[in-house]
Amino acid sequence: MTARKGNSTNYRCVLVKTDKDGITWVTFNRPEKRNAMSPTLHAEMEQIMLDLETDQRTKVIVITGAGDAWSAGMDLKEYFRETDADERGQFRSFTSNRNWGWDLISRSRKPTIAMINGYCFGGAFTPLCACDIVVTAEDATYGLSEVNWGIIPGGNVSKVIVDTMPSFRQALFYAMTGRPFDGRQAVAMGLANIAVPANQLKAETVKLAHELMTKSPTVLAYVKQALRAVRTMDQDQSYEYLRAKILALRVDDKERTRERGMAEFLDNKSYRPGLQAVARPGAAGGSPRKKVMPRSTSKRI
Ligand code: COA
Repeated sequence: MTARKGNSTNYRCVLVKTDKDGITWVTFNRPEKRNAMSPTLHAEMEQIMLDLETDQRTKVIVITGAGDAWSAGMDLKEYFRETDADERGQFRSFTSNRNWGWDLISRSRKPTIAMINGYCFGGAFTPLCACDIVVTAEDATYGLSEVNWGIIPGGNVSKVIVDTMPSFRQALFYAMTGRPFDGRQAVAMGLANIAVPANQLKAETVKLAHELMTKSPTVLAYVKQALRAVRTMDQDQSYEYLRAKILALRVDDKERTRERGMAEFLDNKSYRPGLQAVARPGAAGGSPRKKVMPRSTSKRI
């Protein structure tokens, strides 16, 4: 059941709010259960991620949690114990979980940021790894805790951690010991990008979202799709795939970023692509046709 109010939608287990600047905040909202993922939460997240994919207002999706937790993983009571004797229910929530927690997030054309504000355990690692970029509180607590209560990291957690973490040894170590680790360690082991003190978490995330919004959304979508796709290709396939995608992007990018990017650099000399993005059409700060400042006289950084 949902209650709509302007740009916010309150589901039973999730809050969704779109800011005027285009950041949509998706907040797991079962703080009293440390945002453990119940069948209802899975069904709602599946619907939410489908809706956001075609929501014109949403430019960047941020997934976070209410209270002390990002998510304490699968709900041991509602997801596991209560569906042990309910094959149909178990299949439904398993499928919803797979659909939103991996497929819809990792295939989204929109940039996705996981903003890890606290506990992050077990099954929560799948959406964590599915998101494009992870900003974490330094003192957030992570754990591959499955071993502590007698299962293997399932729901594809084993697969996503070995694909995401550069060190297979670290993946084995934390999966076998179940030892908790913090946000700084999550960055060191390649699970997160940026760790900041908890009181700077939101500001850092908003800054990153705004930076992503300076790029053409179509170019950004192609970039993330390309990096994800080539991971499982060999050299020959990758060369051919990227060549085809580059041609497709020239047709697909209605902002004509490539042409404008070259013209602004080579002809108008208004920016340096090595240091910043070409201004998007209609972006604050001037039209890309306008010569902002000659490169030769602007301050070099
Ligand atoms: N599944 C179901 N319920 C959970 C849960 C989970 N994964 N994680 C927390 N809860 C519930 C607790 O049962 C408790 O419910 P209650 O108030 O009805 O008794 C409530 O959330 C608060 O949990 P509590 O353990 O009292 O909070 P805490 O702040 O002391 O500890 C955790 C927080 C996250 C460290 C602890 O709850 C925990 O270890 N949870 C399990 C994490 C895990 O192994 N997840 C992997 C699942 S794949």
